[in-house]
Amino acid sequence: MREYRIAAIPADGIGPEVIAAGLQVLEVLAERCGNFAISATIFDWGSDYYKKHGEMMPSDGLEQLKSFDAIFFGAVGAPDVPDHITLWGLRLPICQGFDQYANVRPTKILPGITPPLRNCGPGDLDWVIVRENSEGEYSGHGGRAHRGLPEEVGTEVAIFTRVGVTRIMRYAFRLAQSRPRKLLTVVTKSNAQRHGMVMWDEIAAEVAREFADVTWDKMLVDAMTVRMTLHPKSLDTIVATNLHADILSDLAGALAGSLGVAPTANIDPERRYPSMFEPIHGSAFDIAGKGIANPVATFWTAAQMLEHLGEPEAAKHLMQAVERVSGAGILTPDVGGTATTEDVTAAVCQAIKGANIL
Ligand code: NAI
Ligand code: MG
Repeated sequence: MREYRIAAIPADGIGPEVIAAGLQVLEVLAERCGNFAISATIFDWGSDYYKKHGEMMPSDGLEQLKSFDAIFFGAVGAPDVPDHITLWGLRLPICQGFDQYANVRPTKILPGITPPLRNCGPGDLDWVIVRENSEGEYSGHGGRAHRGLPEEVGTEVAIFTRVGVTRIMRYAFRLAQSRPRKLLTVVTKSNAQRHGMVMWDEIAAEVAREFADVTWDKMLVDAMTVRMTLHPKSLDTIVATNLHADILSDLAGALAGSLGVAPTANIDPERRYPSMFEPIHGSAFDIAGKGIANPVATFWTAAQMLEHLGEPEAAKHLMQAVERVSGAGILTPDVGGTATTEDVTAAVCQAIKGANIL
């Protein structure tokens, strides 16, 4: 029997609520499948840890995580700690330190969920957004001079490298090729940003030649928001920079019904390091402690994790259970229901076991 060692980092706000639900579901799933086991180690890093120790994780944090098969991450963010500290103190060092350069964000409308778009139901919106996760606008390059003075300057430099763009482009083309429609949209802003973004377009055309069976097109990011909203069916796989894909995937989450159902995987495709799986949403302190956080994004990212670990059957079984539960109307308030986190989790566990869920 295979045993997967998972590092769970629930962190802040609703993070611990949804990660607990995710671990519970994984355990029931492993029992049901019978051919693998999950052994989870929980790390107490995050904003509370920061308030005690002055850092979001210990300085040898990455060393501690390195030997795990995958990382299962909740969310960071606390009302009384600046966001750039929580983000740059925990999540980004893991993504960057483990070179998780492909951020993969599937979106579809789950059964039972009414999306905000008229004339758009399950099947009409089925996308995967691939976000460049190691450089671009979030490379941390820049600085401030003359702080506090009238002539103060702040720069935030976007870094695009041929190596970085080529590898994410190959990943996106390969992913598009593996999906039935074999359709990729490359998003840039190469009209206004005439250096790095033009290089993206050029590298996209180069890599496209390796994938003759993939149909691809280009969009400017502003026009892309319109196409996503008005012609969702025309899209399948999407690749964009760190910043652009960050924004587009929040839009995608909203168009699919709620951020509470949107998952994401931070992948090291070369498998040199553990990859990290998390819901897209943040710590949502407006609803933390109320027991109503939607655990579906976390279940979906658990399915991504199983797929990455080499358990595609288990991943599929989990998603079928999630869809059976949403289809039965067992939904948290963010997607129009009255169920609690616990209700949804219990129903998904029942569905995994093949039992009646109502
Ligand atoms: P958020 O994603 O935490 O919440 C936005 C809205 O969506 C809130 O009204 C929230 O209640 C709702 N929501 C989010 N997830 C939900 C779920 N699972 N179920 C039901 N409703 C859900 O974003 P916000 O409010 O902008 O940020 C809160 C904190 O989270 C900030 O400190 C921010 O920096 C941090 N954050 C962290 C992220 C991460 O850890 N990857 C990502 C986004 C934000
Ligand atoms: Mg975001």
